[in-house]
Amino acid sequence: MLFNRLINKRYNSLNTKKIVLGIDLGTTNSLASHIPKSLDNTQTPIILNTTKTPSIVGFAKKGNDLSDIPSPSDDKHIFELLKTNLNVFIGEKAQNQYRLNPENTFKAMKRIIGTFNDNDEIFESYKNQYSNNVAINNSIYFNLFNSNLKVNAEIIAGFILSDIKSKALKEIGVENGAVDAVITVPAYFNNLQRKATLNAANLANINCLRIINEPTAAALSFGVMKQNNDGVYAVYDLGGGTFDISILELDGAVFEVRGTAGDLKLGGEDLDYLIRDYALDKFLSNNNNINREDVLKNNSFMNELLNHCEKLKIELSTTSSSQINIPFAFKNVLGDFVHFKVEVQESEIDKLAEPLVKKTIKIFKKCLKDANIDKQSLQQILLVGGMTRMPYIRKQIIKNFISEDNSENDTDNKLNFKINPDDSVCLGASIQAGLLTGEIKDVLLLDVNPLTLGMETYGGLMSPMLKKNCNVPIEYKEQFTTGIDNQQIVKINIYQGESKLCRDNVKLGEFVLSGIPQLPKGVPKIEVSFKLDSNGILNVTAKELLTNLECNLELITTAPIENNSKQSSSNVDSNDLAWVFENLGLWQLSFKELDLMYRKYADSIHFSETISNEFNELKSKFDQWNIMKNDSSKDAEMVDYFVKKGGMNVLKNRINKLQTDLMSELKGKKV
Ligand SMILES: Nc1ncnc2c1ncn2[C@@H]1O[C@H](COP(=O)(O)OP(=O)(O)OP(=O)(O)O)[C@@H](O)[C@H]1O
Ligand SMILES: [Mg+2]
Repeated sequence: MLFNRLINKRYNSLNTKKIVLGIDLGTTNSLASHIPKSLDNTQTPIILNTTKTPSIVGFAKKGNDLSDIPSPSDDKHIFELLKTNLNVFIGEKAQNQYRLNPENTFKAMKRIIGTFNDNDEIFESYKNQYSNNVAINNSIYFNLFNSNLKVNAEIIAGFILSDIKSKALKEIGVENGAVDAVITVPAYFNNLQRKATLNAANLANINCLRIINEPTAAALSFGVMKQNNDGVYAVYDLGGGTFDISILELDGAVFEVRGTAGDLKLGGEDLDYLIRDYALDKFLSNNNNINREDVLKNNSFMNELLNHCEKLKIELSTTSSSQINIPFAFKNVLGDFVHFKVEVQESEIDKLAEPLVKKTIKIFKKCLKDANIDKQSLQQILLVGGMTRMPYIRKQIIKNFISEDNSENDTDNKLNFKINPDDSVCLGASIQAGLLTGEIKDVLLLDVNPLTLGMETYGGLMSPMLKKNCNVPIEYKEQFTTGIDNQQIVKINIYQGESKLCRDNVKLGEFVLSGIPQLPKGVPKIEVSFKLDSNGILNVTAKELLTNLECNLELITTAPIENNSKQSSSNVDSNDLAWVFENLGLWQLSFKELDLMYRKYADSIHFSETISNEFNELKSKFDQWNIMKNDSSKDAEMVDYFVKKGGMNVLKNRINKLQTDLMSELKGKKV
């Protein structure tokens, strides 16, 4: 096959000494696999058992002074500073110190990787645990030990990946080798979340060959190709944090994803929280003398109870009744220790799980409908993710998708859980790596775009460009023109999601197209091409067709609104502070547009000294304000200047004037 030959040619030239891993970076657990060199050429991936790691990272002071650590400039720098200045605990070691150090121990961070939406409910729960948080450059950082040290979800993932990498090298028996990897993500991850995962690999010095969707990887590992059973398969993947469903079709050697859907906020952890609320209610109803508010405030106990609830949930998938039993749980008002003991039946957990499971069934049905497939045509449903061990979930899948009147034998054939649900995604990642390196041949894998990509048009409407479920890689071209004479800049807002209204979708960013030749309005023909690569990541380029000139394209992501919970050292009104940060972000965006234009012509046009000076001065002011934004001791000064002394108006006037001056100097000049 041509496609395979091309891929193989490209990757056969890779340094063969490199170790290639398949990595499942999970919300709860992460692990790696690889294809060992075999004499009989079988190329079967194996799990590297020592890499199995709970996805948890904790930090503790080493004893050195943290007060003079400089404010780090980027994630790589932060990563290095954390390694040198703190003790970093990863996996089980982090889990062991969790009860003592919950505010510096980070788990389930995959749920917020690549997002900065501090309004969502998941983020709310993190906010309660890690009070010092601040949004910078589209990411949410959590401050550590009142110092300049901070972490975000990408950095946490970076630590987990670097731990997996070193354990994998050790298990394979290679010291310090370079590592390539295929890393899995939920099929429903958007562009920003995929990019954040790539960044995490970069922090861990792992060269990511490909990002692959988890259900697709799982399907590869079930070896459906080897069974030579052409047909349609569904992968139901319910893990710790996310739910994914994919419909795949095997036709000869072509393995094509027909549709995918999911919910990034639906997983085992959600059930753990429901069980915790339930168990607490049950306990309090028999212990009237204990104050609920006091218990809720006890972070350390609430975390411990959550862990016990998860254990209970796991036990109840093999027994019908179990207990949560925590002696010396906390002290009551009299100062005596309380023994927390609650008995729970499997049926009670099933009841709690019901709404969550119903949601997954609904998404599954919709996905089948979108892919135009009826449930009777499903060859098999493959079960993936730790939660699918729950008997209630299996029963619901059988009830809804494999008719109850099927014989037991038929049901067994249709529901496939033959591979350990914890391992299948990871094994599939190695198979994908094998396809890329040429170790595994004769399969063509066609994956799809999980979410519609589109741009904003008049009235905030979303105009779709790359539709959900189209095969990737893919390219889409669109022509733009200008709305005013001599317009040199066009802004394009890109969104991802299924709503007709942009505001209900995720904004990926704002592309600023500059360098458009000066022509009357409507004349320029700017062709913008949107390419979605095999990782599901968007690349955008633009060209003016009359002049054949490439246009500059810069991605300016929206300025995040600073989190009000940012702890300020002074008595600053947090609303004022949020207003300052928001407006400052907006004016910086306008300034950046002007600056793009200025730089473009600075070589060919002699701008007046007034203009050049004003650009330089404003630029250094923004640099200074950006540093101040990250330093809470400057909050009062920022609010005083921008709100009380009217600094925001001054800034606004300066930028407006700069725009008028720049336009008037550009007018009539030949470039
Ligand atoms: N026997 C069991 N019964 C019920 N739930 C279980 C069982 N074993 C594990 N789980 C749950 O499965 C979840 C972990 O599954 P898994 O390891 O597949 O998730 P993950 O890959 O880390 O997460 P994700 O795929 O969402 O990123 C946890 O919520 C765990 O409590
Ligand atoms: Mg998983």
